[in-house]
Amino acid sequence: MYLEEMFGLSGKTAIVTGAGRGIGQVIAIGLAKAGAEIAIISRSGAAETVRMITEDGGKAYDIKADVTKEEDVDRAIAEIMERSGKIDILFNNAGVCLHKATLDATIEEWRNVIDINLTGEYIMARAVGRVMIEKGIKGSIVNMASMSGTVVNIPQWQASYNASKAGVIHLTKSLATEWIDYGIRVNSLSPGYMATPMAEDVPQELKDAWEPLMPMHRMGKPEELIPAILYLVSPAAGYTTGADIIVDGGYTCI
Ligand SMILES: NC(=O)c1ccc[n+]([C@@H]2O[C@H](COP(=O)([O-])OP(=O)(O)OC[C@H]3O[C@@H](n4cnc5c(N)ncnc54)[C@H](O)[C@@H]3O)[C@@H](O)[C@H]2O)c1
Repeated sequence: MYLEEMFGLSGKTAIVTGAGRGIGQVIAIGLAKAGAEIAIISRSGAAETVRMITEDGGKAYDIKADVTKEEDVDRAIAEIMERSGKIDILFNNAGVCLHKATLDATIEEWRNVIDINLTGEYIMARAVGRVMIEKGIKGSIVNMASMSGTVVNIPQWQASYNASKAGVIHLTKSLATEWIDYGIRVNSLSPGYMATPMAEDVPQELKDAWEPLMPMHRMGKPEELIPAILYLVSPAAGYTTGADIIVDGGYTCI
């Protein structure tokens, strides 16, 4: 009972972006297990995630939308309000990474990373914050940052990614402060290297270079992020806002 009161999400509606695979998929499943109805916003649909949740007895649906396009996001939010009547939680997860030296990257490549990782989270948070404020919902927003928002991880060069995630951490603090009197809490999550399809695309020699730099000598499992997010979106975190929770197996300690 105590745990249900502290961490239960029954009756809550949670948006998870980019939940067709990877971390978003695992978190959507985790939040559904805690009782939330999940509305997935995904560029190419997330039928498999919806199937996994509903077959397990949970509630979920997906809407195709690109988080960088305001008109897509507004349409998706309107559909969620029609179907679920409210939005209590946003997990702003969709993102991309680019490994490229600054002198080799084009300005279009820089803009694409900033557009998805930073502006996309801003567009989503703003659209959801607007609904929460209009409806008087004391909701919770968790923005996906990264340890790369705090440290410059090596040996790959990824200035656009690092800058976008540092931006997410400060956007989070800004929105947390701006919306504090509405009872909306805004926090960010900063994982270390996680074993997801994003990481599977990484060449083996780069993973070998990462191994000695990871104090736990392994990547994290997306499942290991669920408890931190569950905390941030639950009543247990009533006094936590503007925080960046680092879940990186100690990477940023050394
Ligand atoms: N994997 C890691 O090691 C790691 C570490 C720290 C932070 N992160 C962050 O976690 C988040 C998820 O990463 P992942 O590893 O699961 O990656 P992933 O590539 O498996 O998933 C990213 C998802 O975002 C979606 N997406 C991308 N652009 C979009 C857009 N414009 N509109 C809607 N959806 C879009 C993709 O379709 C995909 O489903 C990202 O923000 C990433 O930066 C990942």
